[in-house]
Amino acid sequence: MNWSAEEKKWAAETAEKLKGKMRAVTERNRDKIPYTAVNGVFNDMGKDDIAWWTNGFWGGMMWQMHALTGEELYKEEAVKTEEKLDVVLMNDKGLDHDNGFKWLPTAVVNYKVTKNPASLNRAMLAAGNLAGRFNLAGHFIRAWNDNGTDDRRGWAIIDCMMNLPLLYWASEETGDPRFGQIARAHADRAQECFVRADGSVNHIVEFDPETGEMVRTYGGQGYGVGSSWTRGQSWGLYGFTLSYIHTKDEKYLNTARRIAHYYIANIPDSGKIPVDFRQPADCPWEDSTAAAIAACGLLELSKYVEERDSMVYRKTAMKLLQTLDAERCSWDPGTDELLEKCTAAYHDKEHEFPIIYGDYYFIEAVMKILEKELFIW
Ligand code: GLY
Repeated sequence: MNWSAEEKKWAAETAEKLKGKMRAVTERNRDKIPYTAVNGVFNDMGKDDIAWWTNGFWGGMMWQMHALTGEELYKEEAVKTEEKLDVVLMNDKGLDHDNGFKWLPTAVVNYKVTKNPASLNRAMLAAGNLAGRFNLAGHFIRAWNDNGTDDRRGWAIIDCMMNLPLLYWASEETGDPRFGQIARAHADRAQECFVRADGSVNHIVEFDPETGEMVRTYGGQGYGVGSSWTRGQSWGLYGFTLSYIHTKDEKYLNTARRIAHYYIANIPDSGKIPVDFRQPADCPWEDSTAAAIAACGLLELSKYVEERDSMVYRKTAMKLLQTLDAERCSWDPGTDELLEKCTAAYHDKEHEFPIIYGDYYFIEAVMKILEKELFIW
């Protein structure tokens, strides 16, 4: 990739800031698996909720920092996170469509780097379970498990596109096409039922679990039915790009581009991303994670299109990243979090707080431009 001098300069300078910040943060938080920070101090999901869907991202951050610096500290922490997740592999209720988010940035990347057989075993158990969630009638991977309230047997979510690389990897690793076949079948159905004509995406689609018919959509973590939850747009943009990378099927590239064009058209002049592109105009809530994930998707997408479009995607990614760097990153080495103003869901009580996957994707974006990324997806 021919990164511009400006892109390379920004990435090199940001990497230096990351090195200083992350060493202090990691040394202070050895043995934790963070999700959020309160008053600058990370919590520990190893104690609070080991099965939580975000528990692979700290491991992923550690692997990226290891790739950036070569320092053993980061690898040791990444391996600890991976090992702690073993209890989840023995807990049926802790396993769901997010197996990819948990084991791609931990076991799969460890296996790619070290060929550790225990990591291969973990990754294949996670992939087999993910494949087992495929609904044959509807050609979708079931999202969440039951919560005692909703009948979720027919629910699929756009986020799942980011988990499909666990299945693509399993087929690439074993030579057994079943995993990749399931990933492609889900991607095809998602393309048909999640992506709207204007390039925006639904968060949740409900199918009839017996017949496979599409029943309805839900607003999910966004503002409402028919709205445009920005992190969902980011998952779709990056997720379809990843399905293209793994299959080389142009239809996924075209879908990723449609979502990207919708996204780019809706970015406010400030470069700060709201929680939902269709939230009320007087609502100020932001989600910095959506910005970081979209930047990663755009940078990746820019590698597979002609120069003119590539420039548009890269320029947009740089605007998102430089806005985060200047206005939404806590560079103080005394605070644990990196990104500020992240939001899990529009209708939650709390908004705009640190969330670990925002930090992960910001680091991944920097690593892409530096060309030092450990490619996790
Ligand atoms: N995968 C759930 C979320 O993005 O919040």
